[in-house]
Amino acid sequence: MLVLGIETSCDESSASLVVDGKRVLSNVVASQIDLHKAYGGVVPEIAARAHVESIAPVLAEALAATEERPELLAVTAGPGLVGSLVVGVSAAKAIAWSWGIPMVAVNHLEAHLFAPALEGSLPEMPFLALVVSGGHTLLAQVSSLDDIEVLGQTRDDAVGEAYDKVANFLGLGYPGGPIIDSLAAEGDPRAIDFPRAMLHSGDYDFSLSGLKTAVIRYMARQQSEGKEPPSVADVAASFQAAALEVLVRKTVAAARDRGLADVVIGGGVACNSSLREQLARACDTEGLRLAYTSVGLCTDNAAMVAAVGFMRYQSGQRSGLDADVYPNLRLGEQMPGS
Ligand code: KG4
Ligand code: ZN
Repeated sequence: MLVLGIETSCDESSASLVVDGKRVLSNVVASQIDLHKAYGGVVPEIAARAHVESIAPVLAEALAATEERPELLAVTAGPGLVGSLVVGVSAAKAIAWSWGIPMVAVNHLEAHLFAPALEGSLPEMPFLALVVSGGHTLLAQVSSLDDIEVLGQTRDDAVGEAYDKVANFLGLGYPGGPIIDSLAAEGDPRAIDFPRAMLHSGDYDFSLSGLKTAVIRYMARQQSEGKEPPSVADVAASFQAAALEVLVRKTVAAARDRGLADVVIGGGVACNSSLREQLARACDTEGLRLAYTSVGLCTDNAAMVAAVGFMRYQSGQRSGLDADVYPNLRLGEQMPGS
């Protein structure tokens, strides 16, 4: 079955053609990074306008991969920025109506965690999922499509948000994740002992905002005490070490406590080379299997939306042309009206 996926939940306009939820024929992503760079983060109004401009050309390019007409439409309906979501969902409704094909509204977080299906590396359920992105940081037990239990999540900033804010503070640019990732490789992760928040909290929750503040305070203290400024690479490496240690340790603990042998990581921060390495090592030690996708499928893209849309279509889900957007949709929550 040929599925057309559409994703516009944040600052990437994307359209993709995927066969049977697995084989990617096209996956076009128009990033708005250059528009938001000057602000150090995504500006919702600018994002919505940019989606309006890019959605038609992105769709045209994705559809050009074959002359066949898609048989199903899958679109992200939440969570995300309301103005951005509306653009994708409106486009999806118009196409589904004019071609007379069914439509399935997709939860963006599910799309991140089922993305390994596109590369044949999705484990059998149940598995443990760590979703780490610019908007989310959570651990969930995925027992079936309709049985996803969130075990813990961040109480404040998402980990990608912490990367972006720290990079912005250090004057490194936007988005901060990939910049800190490569800079950290040149620094000493033990140079500064930043706090590992909630490491021993006994639950699966996270807190990242204190770490960001600790970096800011550390830099201010160095300056006020007239000390030699630390190397930015050392600060980046030490920040990253603190953020990742908690993620890795809690992920492995959750898999062990729940008796789950497979771990999936998804979301933009799952691109991070140290997270992949450290989690792979920790999983290896514990006898767990780890799955993640190549970098292009970790960040926001419509192929992962098409993959989940296909899975949900097969399990009987359909969305009507009255489908809405759900900016605060949670993982494990039933899509309203479907
Ligand atoms: O999943 P995504 O594309 O969008 C959301 O749904 O939020 O994730 C974007 C986030 C940004 O915060 C970005 O800085 C972060 O993912 N990111 C990374 C890396 N690549 C992207 N964080 C750490 N290391 C990376 N290599
Ligand atoms: Zn995302």
